[in-house]
Amino acid sequence: MSIYHVIGIVIALIIILYSTIILFSHQPREPLPNEFFYTTNDEENLKYELPPRATPNSQYKPEIEISIIIPCYNEISRLGKMLDESIEYLEENYSGNYEILIVDDGSTDGTAKFAITKAKQFKLQPHILRVVQLAKNRGKGGAVTHGLLHSRGKFSLFADADGATKFSDIHKLLSYLKQQDKPSIAIGSRAHMVNTDAVVKRSFIRNFLMYGLHTLVYIFGIRQVQDTQCGFKMFNYEAVKKIFPHMHTERWIFDVEVLLLGEIQNFNLKEIAVNWQEIEGSKVDLARDSIAMAIDLVVTRVAYLLGIYKLNECGRK
Ligand SMILES: *[C@@H]1O[C@H](CO)[C@@H](O)[C@H](O)[C@H]1NC(C)=O
Repeated sequence: MSIYHVIGIVIALIIILYSTIILFSHQPREPLPNEFFYTTNDEENLKYELPPRATPNSQYKPEIEISIIIPCYNEISRLGKMLDESIEYLEENYSGNYEILIVDDGSTDGTAKFAITKAKQFKLQPHILRVVQLAKNRGKGGAVTHGLLHSRGKFSLFADADGATKFSDIHKLLSYLKQQDKPSIAIGSRAHMVNTDAVVKRSFIRNFLMYGLHTLVYIFGIRQVQDTQCGFKMFNYEAVKKIFPHMHTERWIFDVEVLLLGEIQNFNLKEIAVNWQEIEGSKVDLARDSIAMAIDLVVTRVAYLLGIYKLNECGRK
């Protein structure tokens, strides 16, 4: 085989790799016009405009201390517990200085209405709890991204609607972030639970898939973080505006892109142990989703390496 053959094969392989990554790469869906509005617990059907979308260089000054972003897709059965816990905590500790932004990702079970009912039950001031309804389902990553781009807090947490993480552990994440003077991420983590009942009780196949995914995350993902998938992560505003305008990934593995964007830009990242319990009704179909996650993971890493995803150009305009 001549040197020309080898060069030819190498070039062909590079082209195939490049096109495969482009094929599997994501473009975030642009928000639709009515997705820039929210409702709250005042007169029915009144819509209010969200604050302007964050950009990496925006001069916006956060107006409140804490934003909680909760992505929801048909969460009526689980959201109640999560809201009870978080509203009690926030009312006592941050009254008047927080917001809860529910991003309803195209639910069909009345999740949005349910959330507003909760706000009424707690007699919250209007505008503390805000519900943004996405007209079309985007996926968890898309919902979280949309919420964070419109958050008003000095510190913003995204938290899963199932309430699997003990909400009051937010104070651990917050006390870390308050000590940082550059863009930083506090990462709720279950890594300390690996050998405890909560994990061992899972089925063999589930653990197997978890370890497989962890290995891939180790190779292609973020080595300094053990638990990338816990739905409890907090950011200071500097990190929010330098991460979320760049996001591409709309589905599950978006966590890894978030952390990757933090790592590439040399932000402070810290894993912080949180209390976590398994909640029934997980939406992750492990067999199907682990494969999708594995693909996304490799694609995300390689897309940044090859410059298919770029930092200096926002994923969305
Ligand atoms: C307020 O915060 C403290 C410290 O994090 C916590 O111990 C307490 O339970 C919180 N209040 C409520 C009602 O959750």
